[in-house]
Amino acid sequence: MNAAVVVNEHVAGLKVSPLSAHIGAEISGVDLRKALSRAQVEAIRAALLKWRVVFFREQFLSHEQHVAFSAQFGELTIGHPVFGHVEGHPEIYSISKFRKATRFEGQALLRPWTGWHTDVTAAVNPPFASILRGVTIPPYGGDTQWTNLVIAYEKLSAPLRAFVDGLRGLHRFAPPQGASGTEAFSKAVDDRTLVSEHPLVRVHPETGERALYVSPSFLKQIVGLSPRESQVLLELLWEHVTRPEFTVRFKWEAGSIAFWDNRATAHLAPSDIFDLDFDRQLYRTTLVGDVPVGPDGKASVAIEGSPVGAAAAVAMN
Ligand code: SIN
Repeated sequence: MNAAVVVNEHVAGLKVSPLSAHIGAEISGVDLRKALSRAQVEAIRAALLKWRVVFFREQFLSHEQHVAFSAQFGELTIGHPVFGHVEGHPEIYSISKFRKATRFEGQALLRPWTGWHTDVTAAVNPPFASILRGVTIPPYGGDTQWTNLVIAYEKLSAPLRAFVDGLRGLHRFAPPQGASGTEAFSKAVDDRTLVSEHPLVRVHPETGERALYVSPSFLKQIVGLSPRESQVLLELLWEHVTRPEFTVRFKWEAGSIAFWDNRATAHLAPSDIFDLDFDRQLYRTTLVGDVPVGPDGKASVAIEGSPVGAAAAVAMN
């Protein structure tokens, strides 16, 4: 596809404006506080599948409206299966600048792919989508970036594609090399351990496309390779998936919403906010995902922990 020919598609009263060649589109012409028509839901879903991450501006949603908007696209998970949820709002995960549970101590070995991840790939059924809402946003700094794992797969050479098609990897929550988890991080990860084996190439269940499923923060080892082989190949793949031409960078405002497909993307939360005194607060919902399947038809396997179910089911237990 020549993405350059697409300029502002108009579907179901919505305007879909692409932001880069391979990933990201801004959608306008809709009020997300209200129930959507079936045509609007279908148009947003189609844009999500095509552009991998879609953005909305000036949508000042309450937690309840955020949940109601999300529920039109699937079942919501608990806020976060390891790191909890906002009190009184089981489906909402707080992404605050100063949250302790996901911060690390020590001197991490920083590489270009450090911090890039796909949400909750330590679970056997990672959420299919995430919906992030900006509330307190710094006047500058704090942008988020996403990369398109389908185009990354397609841009590998054919022999390397054939090789990675048959590989599988182990995913778990762990601090980056050189750093250690805070007490809160280690306790959460020990109390609710999740470890899964996923194919390195995931077949998208809706589009049939292949994605390089190599969440840099959580994928620790390629199964069957020696530690050195695994590390060298992973570094090559991580360097590749984070190439700037596969990415989009989003400048948040209060009221912005980002809605992304975790089956086809990885993203990078900002670290420049820690060099600035401004606060930053966002809230996230995630939608229950299926178990990934590789090109050979083999599904992912849970090594430790249970699938991430719907928040409603967790609340009933
Ligand atoms: C996330 O990883 O979902 C959070 C991204 C962000 O803080 O920008």
